[in-house]
Amino acid sequence: MKQYNVGIIGATGMVGQRFITLLSGHPWFNLKLLAASPRSAGKPYTEAVGKRWAMKTPIPEEVGKMVVYDATADIDKIASQVDFVFCAVDMKKDEIRALEEAYAKAECPVVSNNSAHRHTPDVPMIIPEINPDHAEIINAQRKRLGTKRGFVAVKSNCSLQSYVPALHPLMKFGVKAALACTYQAISGAGKTFETWPEMLDNVIPYIGGEEEKSEIEPLKIWGHIDGDKIVDATEPAITTQCLRVPVSDGHMAAVFVKFENKPTIEEIKTAWKEFRGIPQELELPHAPKQFLNYFEDPNRPQTKLDRDLEGGMAVSLGRLREDSQYDYKFVCLSHNTLRGAAGGAVLMAELLAAKGYFD
Ligand SMILES: NC(=O)c1ccc[n+]([C@@H]2O[C@H](COP(=O)([O-])OP(=O)(O)OC[C@H]3O[C@@H](n4cnc5c(N)ncnc54)[C@H](OP(=O)(O)O)[C@@H]3O)[C@@H](O)[C@H]2O)c1
Repeated sequence: MKQYNVGIIGATGMVGQRFITLLSGHPWFNLKLLAASPRSAGKPYTEAVGKRWAMKTPIPEEVGKMVVYDATADIDKIASQVDFVFCAVDMKKDEIRALEEAYAKAECPVVSNNSAHRHTPDVPMIIPEINPDHAEIINAQRKRLGTKRGFVAVKSNCSLQSYVPALHPLMKFGVKAALACTYQAISGAGKTFETWPEMLDNVIPYIGGEEEKSEIEPLKIWGHIDGDKIVDATEPAITTQCLRVPVSDGHMAAVFVKFENKPTIEEIKTAWKEFRGIPQELELPHAPKQFLNYFEDPNRPQTKLDRDLEGGMAVSLGRLREDSQYDYKFVCLSHNTLRGAAGGAVLMAELLAAKGYFD
């Protein structure tokens, strides 16, 4: 497989740190440079990230010495050295939209974790096992931007990374409506217990903008390409409540689902077990071998025990049973900064690389 030089924009943040650990030793992607805000620019990475480094493994030695670029002031310098960038920054939405388009127009593709472009109609929002075909909209986007190589592709929100994959193989039974309550880790806010001690022994019933993202984004993922845009699906109706819970990593969801043609419990379990996507067929480096994993033990999945399944790239499911108001209810779990953020973006980049979009 061809080798690609890559950069990380927002390298000092929680998601940026995950990118560093995932790219260390990656078989196709060589981490070439790091960028963040002017606060970090010009400093060696170890100094710029300082005490914020929250990964379990130490900063790779060669990465620690890299001098951090200014993500906005150094766009041309960065674009000239890499084949594409990963982007996860904490900035205002309009600033992120402008920043990502500036990289694309400098002929540097952007694989983004940010929400700013998720509803731009010609920007694909890809879960590689579910809607890999949406990458085809990149041709229309390049035409709009006037680029040959440059484009923006985005990852969806971390809250939905367990229940959208769980519902996807069940769409053949006509999923009419779903209700999901999510129990979300503090790393989803870029925090640890050291930086957010108020979360110890606490639950906060509000995560700004999260419920809207959790309800609307699945419809784009299940949408279809029509000419130069992606048209959202109109079903299923999804309603959510998103809570912040005292957990370091891992978003759990309690899901209720109603079908047009109610399947049996065995049919649902079989659909989960047999589900395979393009990443599994292509054996992409970060593809989990078994994406959806059902646990028969009613005590599972547990955040602490199961979030790291298949390197944090798999989804864990359990407690499937009949419901008195919906047809069924179940629980599902996914690692928010791995499958839900950096890992999902790396898998998307592997898909785009395999399909030639970075050439
Ligand atoms: N954490 C998750 O689980 C998760 C999941 C999905 C999506 N996301 C999204 O990913 C993005 C980053 O999240 P995070 O949790 O990693 O945030 P974070 O830990 O707060 O990190 C933010 C990053 O943005 C950089 N930054 C801030 N202002 C900047 C500027 N003006 N120019 C360039 N870089 C700037 C910071 O650099 P400095 O260190 O120099 O300030 C830092 O590298 C957000 O859009 C978030 O919504 C996060």
